Amino acid sequence: KSTFAGLDLGTGEFAEGVAQALVRVEDLLLAELSSGDEILTEAATHLAKAGGKRFRPMFAVLASHFGPEPEGHDVITAATVVEMIHLATLYHDDVMDDAPLRRGAMSANARWNNSIAILAGDFLFARASRLVSTLGPNSVRIIAETFAELVTGQMRETVGARGGDPVEHYLKVVWEKTGSLIAASGRFGAMTSGADADRVEALSRIGDIVGVAFQVSDDIIDIASVTDDSGKTPGTDLREGVHTLPVLYALDGDGADSVRLRELLIDATTGEARPLTDDAEVDEALALLVASEGMDRARRRLAQMADDAHAELAQLPAGPARDAFTSLVNYTVDRVG
Ligand code: FPP
Ligand code: MG
Ligand code: MG
Repeated sequence: KSTFAGLDLGTGEFAEGVAQALVRVEDLLLAELSSGDEILTEAATHLAKAGGKRFRPMFAVLASHFGPEPEGHDVITAATVVEMIHLATLYHDDVMDDAPLRRGAMSANARWNNSIAILAGDFLFARASRLVSTLGPNSVRIIAETFAELVTGQMRETVGARGGDPVEHYLKVVWEKTGSLIAASGRFGAMTSGADADRVEALSRIGDIVGVAFQVSDDIIDIASVTDDSGKTPGTDLREGVHTLPVLYALDGDGADSVRLRELLIDATTGEARPLTDDAEVDEALALLVASEGMDRARRRLAQMADDAHAELAQLPAGPARDAFTSLVNYTVDRVG
């Protein structure tokens, strides 16, 4: 039985094919990351070896089932490239966020230092660029566009909403930082399997929606995990002064809970997000948020995204790959309770 990223693929030929394709991705990934000077190999393979769901490669491999050549050589290459790009951004993101941990292991910046982490990320990007060049100039262009979107999202997050609508800002950042690369994974998987242009666009749109929905569900769980036993530390985003979708919706209300949340979460003088350092304040904010209308609004927004994804999926031919995408979308919604 094969399970990836919370997705139960079941048993049988299809599940085995996907599992085997992902093993080929893993081998190629480690070979590419180990292909530099000895001093780079340890740092460049560090995050890949620490774990990770390989969600993007899986997305690409599933998307390849909508073309005449699923799981072919180019699909494996494309799936490896998107994971390498993802890993490269994580090295840099952990430097920017000064994050000590990633995937339960020390981040590269904590294990070594910022310079080594930045250079390891650059090396991953260099190897991803070399590898994608074997797929031709159109693929290089897609990766270049996607990379620019990732950078734009990170930049937009860094400068903040700057007086604009915070919900719009959040959704844009989430799309750029997460949706764009998952969309590229769907596009790449379909394209490299020889799918026609309409299919390629459809899988890119599904990637868009699933990427954003996954982030929204993560953000709901960051608050809701206070009431369950998911094993996560609740309120991580609040401690970092990051206002995610349910928080933005909750702050927007005019009830007593919203008033108190604004006192807790917004700096009265600057109007900016205020990182919470006090445990009692985190607990109070979480208790208010869990019961807030903002959580319901975020859940409704997520359900809407799932409906959009299902509508796109309905246009695809039936089969195990479509079923796998359908369970992936359902899982994203179900895990928020
Ligand atoms: C994680 O977000 C960050 C991203 C998904 C995108 C980061 C993009 C860059 C760093 C662009 C520049 C990259 C290179 C290689 C030049 P997060 O911090 O909200 O999530 P986390 O909890 O996983 O850290
Ligand atoms: Mg981060
Ligand atoms: Mg970050």
